[in-house]
Amino acid sequence: MNTSCLQNQRIILGVSGGIAAYKSLHLLRLLTRAGADVRVVMTQAATEFVTPLSFQALSGHSVRVALFDAEAESGMDHIALARWADCLLIAPASADLLARCAHGRADDLLTTLVLACAAPLWVAPAMNQQMWRHPAVKENCRILAARGVRFIGPQVGEQACGDIGAGRMSEPEQILQALTQSISAQDGQPSGQLESDTRGLDGRHVVITAGGTQEPIDPVRYIANRSSGKMGFALAHAAARLGATVTLISGPVSLQTPSGVQRVDVTTALEMAEAVAAVEKMDLFIGAAAVADFRVARPAEHKLKKQSGKMGQTLELVENPDIITTVSRRDPRPFVIGFAAETEKLVEYAEQKRVAKNMDLICANQVGPGQGFDQPDNELLLIWSGGRRWLPRADKQQLAFAVLETYQRIQKEQEHASYSS
Ligand code: C5P
Repeated sequence: MNTSCLQNQRIILGVSGGIAAYKSLHLLRLLTRAGADVRVVMTQAATEFVTPLSFQALSGHSVRVALFDAEAESGMDHIALARWADCLLIAPASADLLARCAHGRADDLLTTLVLACAAPLWVAPAMNQQMWRHPAVKENCRILAARGVRFIGPQVGEQACGDIGAGRMSEPEQILQALTQSISAQDGQPSGQLESDTRGLDGRHVVITAGGTQEPIDPVRYIANRSSGKMGFALAHAAARLGATVTLISGPVSLQTPSGVQRVDVTTALEMAEAVAAVEKMDLFIGAAAVADFRVARPAEHKLKKQSGKMGQTLELVENPDIITTVSRRDPRPFVIGFAAETEKLVEYAEQKRVAKNMDLICANQVGPGQGFDQPDNELLLIWSGGRRWLPRADKQQLAFAVLETYQRIQKEQEHASYSS
């Protein structure tokens, strides 16, 4: 991981009360190793889990807890500390801390700093899965996200209390990676090892499908899905930024075409399949569209009428062609990237799909309420035959750069393997 963007970054690491606070000691080490200058601020509750002295020993600076601490305030007062910071990272962020931030409370030093600090704020939530699913917590997160607060995680997994579910704090390495990607993206740089290679896709033709399709039932009704097209459009934007010639084949969406991208609008899965078939040469194909698996066999010519409380006709559905499979059977074939949105058994189903559709790389994501479709951010598990890469929750623009970096990395590995064999 290239963490050079953290060199000399002035970071306030906020630690709130939760068992995950012990992981923040390792996070602090990673940040200081990357060259960041870190000052730790703990809530009173956090000190019940880890002592301030541990953070002091690792950061080389005294740790602040109290707002009204005359001695500490005579050194760097809290307003000066807020002005000093380039970024504020709160890990773990407990349900209580998120609630206080969402409602603009300033009842301790950390929440006061959140209000007084103009620098970007990242939070890594950590709590019991039932708490994370609570509508009050969801609403607080929505308020914070709408204000531009960036979320890292939480992850799905086993929790300290024995429950299994979403709410585990992301691992320190993942937090570091998300922070690095986010800061690099702000600097206008794609993140990761290939970041110096900003025109890495020069001369390549990248074809991307995006959005959902609409399958007509009659002249006014259709079958559709929740896809917003945001991920496909973010990929088109990123590929164009990296120098590729980009063709974006999109279902009906309300998004602006990224600059330098050639867009083809389609409505149905059959039209999308035809538009893809019409592209002769492509180096990389990304199937980000949520293509309807079935269409109505014979859409009605006139609006269907209701007959005594029910529709007057049974809809017969026929299967649509699988666009990505058709592309991966081409000879010569492009590198093929697909997506798998799953509500359960993410890894197992995604890997099955990757093999069945002969994809080179699959980007798997868990979907459900407030996750995946129509959201500005997401988290992805990338799976290819030679490895896996977890991309923690981040803006879809950042994820797009990370997906393309992974593609470049796999290609380089493959070239390497073919030279040495
Ligand atoms: O089987 P499922 O629809 O979940 O597969 C998802 C992947 O397959 C996505 O990459 C999607 O763009 C692609 N797909 C396709 N043509 C279809 C159905 C899905 O290209 N008819």
